[in-house]
Amino acid sequence: MNEKINGLKQEVEQKLKNVSTMKELNEVKTFYLGKKGPISALSSMMKDLSVEEKREFGSALNKLKQEVNLMMEEVRIRLEEEELNRRLEKEKIDVTLPSTGVHFGSVHPLTQIIDEIEELFVSMGYDVVEGPEVETDLYNFEKLNLPKGHPARDAQDSFYITEELLLRTQTSPVQARTMDANTEKTPIRVICPGKVYRRDDDDATHSHQFTQIEGLVIDKDISLADLKGTLEVFARKVFGEDREIRLRPSFFPFTEPSLEVDVSCMKCGGKGCSVCKGTGWIEILGSGMVHPNVLRACGYDPEKYTGFAFGIGPERVAMLKYGISDIRAFYTNDKRFLEDFNRVKGSEE
Ligand code: DAH
Repeated sequence: MNEKINGLKQEVEQKLKNVSTMKELNEVKTFYLGKKGPISALSSMMKDLSVEEKREFGSALNKLKQEVNLMMEEVRIRLEEEELNRRLEKEKIDVTLPSTGVHFGSVHPLTQIIDEIEELFVSMGYDVVEGPEVETDLYNFEKLNLPKGHPARDAQDSFYITEELLLRTQTSPVQARTMDANTEKTPIRVICPGKVYRRDDDDATHSHQFTQIEGLVIDKDISLADLKGTLEVFARKVFGEDREIRLRPSFFPFTEPSLEVDVSCMKCGGKGCSVCKGTGWIEILGSGMVHPNVLRACGYDPEKYTGFAFGIGPERVAMLKYGISDIRAFYTNDKRFLEDFNRVKGSEE
């Protein structure tokens, strides 16, 4: 009997050596430990033995079952390990490979400039207001002292939608809207950022769509000195503390007097260079004292109230500040250009 048990043990050992998959292991297991298997057959022979022999053979048989189970368990662990190693080998990650890179979005340079200017004016007590991009002829022109047929309309070639509706050519209509909407006719201090549209052939300095920030202050006793002081603060905040500004007479239908504002060159400090074309000054915006006709058209009494207005071009500010030479760069979505203005990336470097 013992020989049979030993023989069976060796047989199982031998079989297990050749097992290389879980499927094969299960087959061996089912065969040897199953009801119709050789171990089961040996136990059925017990009935013919004496009590003494039964005890001895029974315990040897139990031992065999335990050993066979143990051997099979060992093979199962070996197979699992092999499988794990195979997968680790196959799915291994080479941490030395270059990464694909994580791309962060960034705030558009124009938005950064607009944010910066908004912040400055809000700190001086201004409100930020908006107006519609599809505007009426009334607000875009007429209320701003540009009646139909006025030659100054030619300077702002427009996208008309109907006779009376157009894409606004400037943010100045928001001045008129703000004055009109203020039914109490109380003082006003606002800036109005937004997109404007003009029929233009796009090139390095012209775009059919661009942005403006309108400024408007209406109060009693507002003078040109207030305008100059305000724009000086603006120029120094945006272009540097050493900047000076210069006012030159100009013409806009909605202001009287009208002024063109120059800032001392941020590149050469005023000595003269290629950026300022040797003059030491760079034109940055248009402004003036609100025309009495505009005040009247929007319900304000020009005898009681005066005001100033200005129109900033954020593209021009950004181009001067960052040395951008082509206005189209703001609108062509070239990621390389936009990434140069990535504040997150910039702060890491
Ligand atoms: N709206 C003018 C333009 O688009 C800019 C401008 C000039 C706005 C003078 C003003 C101003 O408020 O006072 O050319």
